[in-house]
Amino acid sequence: MSVEGKNRVVTTRSLFEMKQRGEKIAMLTAYDYTMAKILDAAGIDIILVGDSAANVIAGHETTLPITLDQMIYHAQSVVRAVKNPMVVVDMPFGTYQGNSKEAVVSAIRMMKESEADAVKLEGGEQVIESVRRILSAGIPVMGHLGLTPQSILKFGTYSVRAKEEAEAEKLIADAHLLEEAGCFAIVLEKIPASLAATVAAELKIPIIGIGAGNGVDGQVLVVHDMLGLNQDFSPRFLRRYHNLYEEMHKAFRHYVKDVKAGDFPNEKEQY
Ligand code: KIV
Repeated sequence: MSVEGKNRVVTTRSLFEMKQRGEKIAMLTAYDYTMAKILDAAGIDIILVGDSAANVIAGHETTLPITLDQMIYHAQSVVRAVKNPMVVVDMPFGTYQGNSKEAVVSAIRMMKESEADAVKLEGGEQVIESVRRILSAGIPVMGHLGLTPQSILKFGTYSVRAKEEAEAEKLIADAHLLEEAGCFAIVLEKIPASLAATVAAELKIPIIGIGAGNGVDGQVLVVHDMLGLNQDFSPRFLRRYHNLYEEMHKAFRHYVKDVKAGDFPNEKEQY
């Protein structure tokens, strides 16, 4: 089903139906036009314009420094490329935690300027007023619980979350709260597989996991990580589908060699 005025094939409704019929949801990140076009052609269901752009594009240690303007720029580039997938954009740190009015103003700016399909916010109870206010403006919201990288300085570590019972119970309660508020899906990051499966079984909306096992309704990875572009990041949950670092390194070295040798361009490659 598509939404009037939009041509996207994947919508909040179709994702809900995928969960109902047991069809897994495939989601990856993208931050630019070229990557998004390839992902669309490959049949991806959701493209997440993640604030992981702060890490893999800008080289920051955390996701905290990326701004709303920068996220809008990435989202615009992705939206221009895609026809089928839903495009979800991370609301960056500092644009929704202060108060719900600031949250809705930020989300409306994101939607108007990028023409994305939905926004993603990190957190449960502590941001629920912001979630409700954004939803009341008609903007679809994806939740994000478990390891929430925007709170990394508070956690102090990227280790697995919700291993203890109290944190697991809080996560389940937060997931229910987000569903009741009207979120159309939730990302669960780096939590025990059994806990993620419990959440997916208890909730009607799709649960997308990253480092959360196979008992959920879909999976997401950072595209640079799954392509093997990023050699410094090797968590257990990451499956590398390619060693693109090696391939690109080889190609660049080849180019440098050809230019230095005066072998590029050749006669056929000039006017
Ligand atoms: O920013 C991001 O890439 C994310 C995923 C890890 C889910 O939030």
